[in-house]
Amino acid sequence: MDRLLVEGGIPLKGNVKISGAKNAALPLMAASLLANSPVSLHNVPNLMDVDTMMLVLHMVGADVVRKGDTLIIDPANFDNPEAPYDLVRKMRASIYVLGPMVARLKQARVSMPGGCVIGRRPIDLHLKGLEALGANVDVSHGYIVVKNPGLKGAEFSLEGPFGSSVGATCNTIMAAVKAEGHTIIHGVAKEPEVRDLVDFLNEMGAQIEAHDSTVSIEGVSELKGVEHAIIPDRIEAGTYMAAAAITKGNVVLKGCHLPHMESVVSKLKEVGVDVEPVVGGARCYCNNGKLAPTNIRTLPYPGFPTDLQAQFTAFLSLIPGNSTVTESIYPERFMHIAELARMGAEISLFSSTATVCGVKNLMAAPVMATDLRASAALILAALAAEGTTEILRVYHIDRGYEHIEKKLAGIGARISREE
Ligand code: EPZ
Repeated sequence: MDRLLVEGGIPLKGNVKISGAKNAALPLMAASLLANSPVSLHNVPNLMDVDTMMLVLHMVGADVVRKGDTLIIDPANFDNPEAPYDLVRKMRASIYVLGPMVARLKQARVSMPGGCVIGRRPIDLHLKGLEALGANVDVSHGYIVVKNPGLKGAEFSLEGPFGSSVGATCNTIMAAVKAEGHTIIHGVAKEPEVRDLVDFLNEMGAQIEAHDSTVSIEGVSELKGVEHAIIPDRIEAGTYMAAAAITKGNVVLKGCHLPHMESVVSKLKEVGVDVEPVVGGARCYCNNGKLAPTNIRTLPYPGFPTDLQAQFTAFLSLIPGNSTVTESIYPERFMHIAELARMGAEISLFSSTATVCGVKNLMAAPVMATDLRASAALILAALAAEGTTEILRVYHIDRGYEHIEKKLAGIGARISREE
């Protein structure tokens, strides 16, 4: 297994290009199965999760070819209604094929996703959406088995105990676009990635109107292949902003879309980090002023994203005073705390709130990446720490950050990968 070596203490400076959003690319790849002709997706990041979704699409019969950052997906031979455990256990987002399978093949047999290191991740709302549209859903022997006697439009809510669900919203919309009649779904997720899916489906010929937390869908019988560019990755951009901030650097994020990042930018400004729009992106820098502690609570969009919680926890660990970080989406998503503590961070956890007592310095140490965003948090901590940090199990980072060492090295970081 690979490890990363990161020498800390260098302020990051320069330009970094933000890639297409992983969490938009995955549902859009699955939604391409709904088309009656080939789809071209541009700005698709080169990531392990995208490779896994390519395998899933192959498995169900589609042809997928990558040319640079474009994927050409031909769903003409999409005829296999099964997504096996071997693929779904690698990546939960494989479950995105469920909606298109039910809509086009009138049946699905998709493995239940298993446990997850960031906490409990049920799929009841995905199933609720399909049932509300008239599908017969059965869960047995570790598989979700769905039969569709003919989906019909309906009005229902997908609101869950932790608010809206990105995945359930995407899956249900993908099933409803071809259902007969009118569907109104309340309590839907408003994340930009969900809106990218809605835009993509509408370009294909779907009739979806999204208003705040409700979508209204008029079913259509055919969807056509189109070309579409994936939106920029706001989580990758937020991670590089946190990297600029934690190293007291000055970084231009090329291609980042600030309107998707209001909660993140306002938190950075509150702490004392500057973020300003520049032509084609944004600049994030510390103008040497004193940084102030803050309180963060993760929430569904437009709230502060859970996918930046770990990275900001690392950043706050170097701001004098007490900050708090409350995780409202995944109350157990705090695996990074123990590793940050090995580098000298002082963080205590009570229930789903971490209290971060800012320290003067972090120290290099061997640490272990536990999941994608926790890995990013450790890299940020390492960039600011004294000495050279060794980060093990870095395969997690390859799931969601395109060319991370190359991009960080491009803005001055001393980072290398060893086998
Ligand atoms: C998406 O996961 C993202 N993944 C996650 O990003 C992200 O953390 C999450 O949304 C929240 O923003 C992809 O887009 C591929 P949810 P998803 O359904 O769709 C509860 C990353 O690091 N819930 O919006 O699986 C759930 O437990 C990843 O890039 C139910 O109760 O998340 C959570 O508390 C990790 N029942 C909340 O809803 C359900 O059926 C939000 O989860 C589904 C979810």
